[in-house]
Amino acid sequence: MIESLRAGRRQHSSLHGVGVYRPTRAVSNDEVCRTIDSTPDWIEARSGIVTRRFAGSEETLTAMAVAAGGKALADAGVPADRIDCVVVASMSNLVQTPPLAITVVDGLGLPNAAGFDVSAACAGFCHALATASDMVCTGQAEHVLVIGVERMTDIVDPADRSIAFLFADGAGAVVVGPGDRQGIGPAIRAADAESLAALRMNTSWGDFRADPALDPPMMKMDGKRVFRWAVENVVPACRRALDAAGVTAADVRAFIPHQANLRMIEVLADRLGLAENAVVARDVRDSGNTSSASIPLAMHRLLAQGDVGPGDIALLVGFGAGLNLAAQAVLLPGQRR
Ligand SMILES: CC(C)(COP(=O)(O)OP(=O)(O)OC[C@H]1O[C@@H](n2cnc3c(N)ncnc32)[C@H](O)[C@@H]1OP(=O)(O)O)[C@@H](O)C(=O)NCCC(=O)NCCS
Repeated sequence: MIESLRAGRRQHSSLHGVGVYRPTRAVSNDEVCRTIDSTPDWIEARSGIVTRRFAGSEETLTAMAVAAGGKALADAGVPADRIDCVVVASMSNLVQTPPLAITVVDGLGLPNAAGFDVSAACAGFCHALATASDMVCTGQAEHVLVIGVERMTDIVDPADRSIAFLFADGAGAVVVGPGDRQGIGPAIRAADAESLAALRMNTSWGDFRADPALDPPMMKMDGKRVFRWAVENVVPACRRALDAAGVTAADVRAFIPHQANLRMIEVLADRLGLAENAVVARDVRDSGNTSSASIPLAMHRLLAQGDVGPGDIALLVGFGAGLNLAAQAVLLPGQRR
């Protein structure tokens, strides 16, 4: 009798490349204040956001994901036929089927790739990255394209002053592949189901279709509750992620948290006790909160600016609706794998 099944081939996983797509239209705080009762100064003081990008009608989720994914493949130097799977994280995908990941397989012409979507709100990218890393480590895939993509403007009411100034659109992607050393640490995940209402859709499409008198489905947020929860829970999860990867806060060269808002990022960075020369991603200033796209967007900016380099240790943490989070330490993509 067979008592055990064969495990997949074990190997290391690492980040091979990163690519992004930023929508062409930049939107100032002045412009946001045309639809809400607010001021540019209030928005900048409370969120740190100065400008953000809103996608136009041609900048669909698929178009942005394909653009970011194609750049990540080029950055990694991995040909299209070597991608085995595409994993797309998104919370703003209103087309439930076919999976967004398969539209990317089609758009990029990946002849050997499977694909599936991940829905974990602003923690989506870190969950997707962990899944891709596990696929590579267990020999289920050689190369996986991981994409975070959002059109938050499709699910945020531009007249809702509690939320309209925060969220924005964009896409970021990484290629995960084999490495000669482990470049992606184990993910730490957590959820607090008691905070389900803190960040949620006000209604479902099903309820809206049954009763068109309802408001259309839009995101609602208890900003204070989200802030408090994140400050309490994100730092311990980050510490556990560093511990799991066998490094300490002093080893971290780049802290790349979900770009929720700058005040929160500053509090988290402060509490982590990073080294003086550690770089903190502050892409939120120019990109707003792009949910599952925010971490690869911020990673790309730090690398493009030369603030960090290949092989540097970065701490990633995504957090949001659920409320839920995922965190992992990584070696930034570059020459040595
Ligand atoms: C959203 C957030 C910036 C709001 O800041 P805040 O300090 O909590 O603001 P409050 O909601 O307590 O409102 C404070 C005051 O500003 C007012 N206000 C709220 N929104 C405003 C706006 N857009 N413009 C001007 N004033 C506003 C409120 O009416 C309130 O006025 P009052 O003191 O006279 O009652 C903050 O809660 C936050 O950053 N939360 C985290 C949200 C987040 O990151 N979500 C994404 C997670 S994925």
